[in-house]
Amino acid sequence: MSAPNPLANKQQAWSALFTEPMSELVQRYTASVGFDKRLAAADIEGSLAHARMLAAQKIIDERDLADIERGLAQVRAEIDAGTFSWKLELEDVHLNVEARLTELVGNAGKRLHTGRSRNDQVATDIRLWLRGEIDRLAALLVQMQRALVELAAGHTETVMPGFTHLQVAQPVSFAHHLLAYVEMFARDAERLADVRRRVNRLPLGAAALAGTSYPLDREHTARLLGFDGVCENSLDAVSDRDFAIEFSAFASIAMVHVSRLAEEIVLWMSQNFGFIDLADRYCTGSSIMPQKRNPDVAELARGKSGRVIGHLMGLLTLMKGQPLTYNKDNQEDKEPLFDTVDTLADTLRIMAEMVGGIVVKPEAMEHAARRGYATATDLADYLAKKGVPFRDAHEAVAHAVKVAMQRGVDLAELPMAELQALHRDIGDDVLEALTPRGSLRSRAVRGGTAPAQVQAQLERHRQRLA
Ligand code: ARG
Repeated sequence: MSAPNPLANKQQAWSALFTEPMSELVQRYTASVGFDKRLAAADIEGSLAHARMLAAQKIIDERDLADIERGLAQVRAEIDAGTFSWKLELEDVHLNVEARLTELVGNAGKRLHTGRSRNDQVATDIRLWLRGEIDRLAALLVQMQRALVELAAGHTETVMPGFTHLQVAQPVSFAHHLLAYVEMFARDAERLADVRRRVNRLPLGAAALAGTSYPLDREHTARLLGFDGVCENSLDAVSDRDFAIEFSAFASIAMVHVSRLAEEIVLWMSQNFGFIDLADRYCTGSSIMPQKRNPDVAELARGKSGRVIGHLMGLLTLMKGQPLTYNKDNQEDKEPLFDTVDTLADTLRIMAEMVGGIVVKPEAMEHAARRGYATATDLADYLAKKGVPFRDAHEAVAHAVKVAMQRGVDLAELPMAELQALHRDIGDDVLEALTPRGSLRSRAVRGGTAPAQVQAQLERHRQRLA
């Protein structure tokens, strides 16, 4: 049989150098297994690739490799079945997996760590795990965009007020408004793809910090794990977590976009706007006010942006004072990263679903556009096109708005004689400019709100997302 397993008793986990046991408090304070066991699948995948490369390089023999493969398969099965016994004394996921492997297969398990350190191991695990999550998030971003595009599809002619300063500005179509968010999420997807390229590099081979004297074939390991290449500097490989910070920056920006959309949903479904209704399943009632239906899901999506942004600040601060190379501080990168992924994934999923269930109230939107004198600019443009200097036209229309306000009517509802009093060149064709729909149609510049333009954008997005 094999020699005693040094990992079986944590007091000797590193070496015989230690003369006194760790206190219970220090053990609990330094252990990460409570959360990093989430990296187990990545840890095993990384170990398998490392072992296969070691065997290919004849650093371990084929029998050892077979034992390691068999043992790790069993460890994986135990973890999946929930029968694996995680030990706090074994500190983290790496030592837990390795100890169990050694229990199962003896000496081969103890050879797995040849030419490797937990420093390059953990950096590899996080990258592998994050890469998988990035691919899931990319799919969720597509889902989010699709939900918005599908909602927009029926509303290229649905007029709503566009706002600046949250004051009614000019008529836009509801579809145009929704497609603004599609642009934001499309950029988020681009950013994510860019982050992925830098996440997808192999740290293994850096060992503790300086590289290793074993003839490792790092490119081989990289290929086995689907990495695009290797980290070129061993010191950098084990120490920097900029890829996690960058990912958090992406996630924060995406959550800010979600938060803005959530804020608009909250506004739109309030009684004062009444632009949309949300399906009951996304609302909750009040325990005291019987009339209430609160948009809790949207509010939480808005609120949860705070924790994701907070994690970005946490990770930046975690990194900023660290000298090269690995420091235990880095163990603190995991919980914020995990929570960022979970929060963003859940939020995208629930928001995409909720958007799919939005009930649009076009009359309320159009009414708000009319009551807000949203076509005032159109009237000024109409006059300017007849040769009135724009500044004078602006002044004349301000006067007309004042008159309409006093009478409580829309600009389009002013009698023609009244309008013509503003300027002698005003003719019947002014009504086209004054109606919200005419206003929409006129803004046919590329990227503008004209239905034909928005339709073209819709088609472009549909193709892109197909
Ligand atoms: N649990 C550790 C972490 O998350 C793994 C690396 C430990 N390395 C070490 N030299 N103590 O960073």
